[in-house]
Parts: sequence; C-alpha cells; structure tokens
Amino acid sequence: MKKSLKWTGITILVVGLGIQLRQPDRTNPSVDESKTIYASMKVPPEVKAVFERSCNDCHSHQTRWPWYSYIAPASWLVADDVKQGRQKLNLSTWADYRKNRKVNRLEEIGDQIKNKEMPLPKYLLLHPSAQLSASDLELITQWAEKEHDRLAEPDSTEGEKK
Ligand code: HEC
Repeated sequence: MKKSLKWTGITILVVGLGIQLRQPDRTNPSVDESKTIYASMKVPPEVKAVFERSCNDCHSHQTRWPWYSYIAPASWLVADDVKQGRQKLNLSTWADYRKNRKVNRLEEIGDQIKNKEMPLPKYLLLHPSAQLSASDLELITQWAEKEHDRLAEPDSTEGEKK
C-alpha cells in the first residue's frame, strides 16, 4: 500500500513537471495606437476605463498574464481564452475591421454583457473587480448602441477602413 502510494506520488510529480514543457503562446504584440478602438471611435474615458478593467485581458494586446498563466494546465486554458477572445474582438486592432464588422461587433458587445456572458464568468471568479456594476452595464450598452447607430447610418463613412 505504502509503496503504491509512493509511486502514485512520483507519477503525479513527473507528469506535473512534464506538462510544464508545453508552454502556450503568451505574447502581447505591440500596439499601434492609431489602430485602437480609442483612436478610431468616440470612446469617452469612462467607457475606456471599463474596457481596460474588464475586457482588455482577453480582447486586446495588453493582456496582464496572471501567475497561474505560467503553470500548466491553467496556462493552456488562459492562453486559449486570450487567443479566442482576440480573434472575436480585438480592441487593439479595431481599425483593421471593415465597417460591417465594426457595426456587428458593437451589437455583440451590448448583447454579450446584457446576457452576462462577458466578462467570462470563470474569469470573474478570479478577478472580482472586473465585474460590471449596474451603471457600467448601462454605460457600455448605451455607448455601444449609440456608436452602432452612428456607424450603421447609410452615409456614415466614419467606420470605413482607412
Ligand atoms: C477571460 C477572458 C475574457 C474576458 C475578460 C472578456 N472576454 Fe469576451 N470573449 C472571450 C472569449 C474566449 C470569447 C470567444 C468565445 C465566446 O464567444 O464565448 C469572447 C467573445 C466575445 C465577443 C464576441 C461574441 C461573438 O459571438 O461574436 C464579444 C463581443 C465579447 N467577448 C465582449 C467582451 C466584453 C465587452 C468584455 C468586457 C466587459 C469581455 N468580452 C471580457 C473572453 C473574454
């Protein structure tokens, strides 16, 4: 019994160390300020503050990688959320989106937060300060709606890709 426990322990240790060899990509590509959402849209500072606090870690190139993002298997999960998050919505490269995509992303921002799908609930467990208050929710949904309507105007050229 004792011997098998010892081997179980050794196996867990070896596997635990072994998986550390597979490190995910944790890069923060450099940010071109002229391409951020802040440069190409009307974003009031209070809206920017909410994005920076609650969304940036997965939806920008300014991810703050937490300590557990260096330890497998948590590292894989965190990196995967960041990769997928950046693919779906990247506040750092917003200017690269075509107008239709911007309009659609603005709609999704409102929908996702209204439905409490974003910020990801598992993220909020570890980052309680990223929780959106009722007034944050109101602020972001109203802002997204206003910007959506402004861009969606048939003669609006503002959202065009430069
Ligand atoms: C912990 C990482 C994380 C945080 C923080 C986060 N998101 Fe996301 N977000 C994701 C991932 C992963 C996806 C893609 C998978 C999905 O849709 O569930 C996503 C998808 C989205 C989408 C695209 C949905 C679609 O289907 O097109 C929007 C819009 C979005 N997030 C907005 C936000 C906003 C706004 C915030 C901040 C209030 C936020 N997210 C915070 C990880 C995150």
